[in-house]
Amino acid sequence: MSQVDQQVINNAAEILRQGGLVAFPTETVYGLGANALDGRAVAKIFKAKGRPQFNPLIVHVGSLEAIEALCHVPAVARKLADAFWPGPLTLVLARKSDCPVSELVSAGLPTLAVRIPAHPLARTLLKTADIPICAPSANRSGHVSATQATHVSSDLGLRVDFILDGGKTSHGLESTIVAISEIKTPDIANDTSQNNEVFLLRAGAIKTSTLENLLGYKITKRTNMIGAQAHAPGQLESHYAPATTLRLNASSLHKGEALLAFGPNQPKHDGPCKNLSPTGELEEAAANLFSFLRELDTCKASRIAVMPIPAEGLGEAINDRLNRAAAPRP
Ligand code: TXA
Ligand code: MG
Repeated sequence: MSQVDQQVINNAAEILRQGGLVAFPTETVYGLGANALDGRAVAKIFKAKGRPQFNPLIVHVGSLEAIEALCHVPAVARKLADAFWPGPLTLVLARKSDCPVSELVSAGLPTLAVRIPAHPLARTLLKTADIPICAPSANRSGHVSATQATHVSSDLGLRVDFILDGGKTSHGLESTIVAISEIKTPDIANDTSQNNEVFLLRAGAIKTSTLENLLGYKITKRTNMIGAQAHAPGQLESHYAPATTLRLNASSLHKGEALLAFGPNQPKHDGPCKNLSPTGELEEAAANLFSFLRELDTCKASRIAVMPIPAEGLGEAINDRLNRAAAPRP
């Protein structure tokens, strides 16, 4: 590890607190970090990665107490945490109802992926910034993960405000992701050879057999599952779908509709209405998208009319999410 003095880490922490992007080393790969409490900062991650979709992100924190403020931590999660944290294990847990992390981090899901990294620079950064830091791997969408600071700068360049150089990462492979469900099905609850609480979502730096040895049973692999909810194959992307149907590219309102507006030219409307960004900024719109959809969904409107969102930049991911929310349901 190269020497990075505390003054450099102080600068990086300040950039994060001010809503900027900082790439930092973890023991697995470099992460592209933002303040997880700040939706606009989180939106910048998607913009920088150039990904046309919102994927949920891993939140990095410094302690189990910090995780307990965000998520429910059932006994089996605590057991895994005691054995493997700090380290390359990510747990997908149910968000607490008052979880302060931006909904964009969860891409609208009721769950949060969390981990306590082991890399000394990541730990010092978390301690200094004193905020949860969400970070996907610090590469452009579709590229391989960055294991050196030079990979980050050649891939992301000026899209990142600061790169903490910690040399080469030691694992070079991403964390193992495990989802913990609080749902038990009675028929296998008494069968100790298998388990329906713990699911492997991504193989990674910690071997599945190592997890299974600790738990004493086999872990089910589920790539078509998000958090505690099983989905039909191919539905991984469906995320949170509002119960109310959506009408896209609306320029005027029909009776009984709620309005999801964008920009300054909002049609006159007496019913429920949220404006994603009155000034027409896509970062602000991305930061508000999931919470506003959820809020309008509770209004008992006949439909949610959505104004057109420009297709450039982050608008691509916003439109992707809206298109899928508007698609016919089975
Ligand atoms: O080692 C790692 O995990 C690195 C370092 C930076 O921590 N991070 C990383 O992040 O690999 P990323 O974004 O490249 O991969 C995170 C994965 C994605 O496949 C995402 O779908 C999944 O985690 N994920 C995040 N939140 C989730 C959630 N609530 N439910 C299910 N999957 C989730
Ligand atoms: Mg990645």
